[in-house]
Amino acid sequence: MEAAAQFFVESPDVVYGPEAIEAQYEYRTTRVSREGGVLKVHPTSTRFTFRTARQVPRLGVMLVGWGGNNGSTLTAAVLANRLRLSWPTRSGRKEANYYGSLTQAGTVSLGLDAEGQEVFVPFSALLPMVAPNDLVFDGWDISSLNLAEAMRRAKVLDWGLQEQLWPHMEALRPRPSVYIPEFIAANQSARADNLIPGSRAQQLEQIRRDIRDFRSSAGLDKVIVLWTANTERFCEVIPGLNDTAENLLRTIELGLEVSPSTLFAVASILEGCAFLNGSPQNTLVPGALELAWQRRVFVGGDDFKSGQTKVKSVLVDFLIGSGLKTMSIVSYNHLGNNDGENLSAPLQFRSKEVSKSNVVDDMVQSNPVLYTPGEEPDHCDSLLAAPIMLDLALLTELCQRVSFCTDVDPEPQTFHPVLSLLSFLFKAPLVPPGSPVVNALFRQRSCIENILRACVGLPPQNHMLLEHKME
Ligand code: NAI
Repeated sequence: MEAAAQFFVESPDVVYGPEAIEAQYEYRTTRVSREGGVLKVHPTSTRFTFRTARQVPRLGVMLVGWGGNNGSTLTAAVLANRLRLSWPTRSGRKEANYYGSLTQAGTVSLGLDAEGQEVFVPFSALLPMVAPNDLVFDGWDISSLNLAEAMRRAKVLDWGLQEQLWPHMEALRPRPSVYIPEFIAANQSARADNLIPGSRAQQLEQIRRDIRDFRSSAGLDKVIVLWTANTERFCEVIPGLNDTAENLLRTIELGLEVSPSTLFAVASILEGCAFLNGSPQNTLVPGALELAWQRRVFVGGDDFKSGQTKVKSVLVDFLIGSGLKTMSIVSYNHLGNNDGENLSAPLQFRSKEVSKSNVVDDMVQSNPVLYTPGEEPDHCDSLLAAPIMLDLALLTELCQRVSFCTDVDPEPQTFHPVLSLLSFLFKAPLVPPGSPVVNALFRQRSCIENILRACVGLPPQNHMLLEHKME
């Protein structure tokens, strides 16, 4: 990878102005029609102008459930990186890094150089993005523990790192939150000692005041709110109660049933702050979605996509993409099958070791952020959702700075308020009404990569490498 990650696109279609990058982009796709049992495919082309504001804001992230495992770990991780901390472990000293983050540790190929080799840069170099070290955190939790105590309770980080972070985390205290016992498990009641009193309408006002207070006291340009609190029970969608923006606001005013997460979503939207839901429940009920649409505020969800779902979506993508019919998906972590027994013999295992050693080579070599030359993976750490939360905040903020118009509609617009571009990071991606839901991980990644490429006038990544297929 290039030492200087900065790059410029030299093309008459791309203008780097003082305030924005403007790119002319030809969106080539197809439309399919059915005529008398025959599928007719019509290639189409739309001319887009993408405009990305270059000024990166001072960004604040408010976490609901700040004192949980995810919230405390993400805060600690950013602090550890900012302070360039290192700490001893039983396998040597470890340095803080952003591994596991698509934007920070993922790469994209810019194309081939004079020697016919691919040139990679980090994802974050594609467009101006907030640097994670510059993020400012705040948030709410029903538990009053400060962030240092919360970090200790979470038992995620090595002790040597916790000790160094302690004085920096101790001063961070979650703001009181909304606790409605029937929405989360009864076993959480013991930690609920940090609560906003009053009616639902008063609680909504308090959350809005908190957001405004954080924005002004930390001198922020923008705030994004992320739900990483406990999973709530589903909320019934009832006509008249939460089916429209108007009904939902009236429900809150009258103190009828609304979940804490929906209350936070409504408060964020009313404050013009993007709201992202990291848990599985249906926080973004139709009334909340309509409110987001009316106010032109981004919302995204649901449920952070961490380890197991990622692996599952990759495996199924691979199987089906290879023409293999996936009959059943069973999550099973016991290695007692016959293949496993066969592999317990050293010779068979050696064959497997050799055969497996090359299958990841191209992927390893495409990513010099993660691997130094010659280095290969030898084991996998399990990951918390912390890097996913980071990517969510950074990508949402970037999307807020992108606008576009087309040759058929010259009126500038922004992405749809339901930010489906974030699907890579969510288990059950929310998409605009009528839009297909894509779960396949590589399609989701390509979507992000190609839209970011479009913003700098680069064609979609096609992996054809035709240059190398000619005589
Ligand atoms: P956790 O239980 O450690 O943290 C949740 C925090 O939320 C706790 O500190 C709790 O006191 C707080 N909380 C509960 N209700 C609240 C409310 N109404 N307002 C404010 N705070 C409240 O859980 P963890 O591991 O941090 O996960 C958080 C959420 O993320 C869970 O809903 C989980 O399902 C979801 N998730 C986590 C993934 C992971 O890798 N850890 C992956 C996918 C989803």
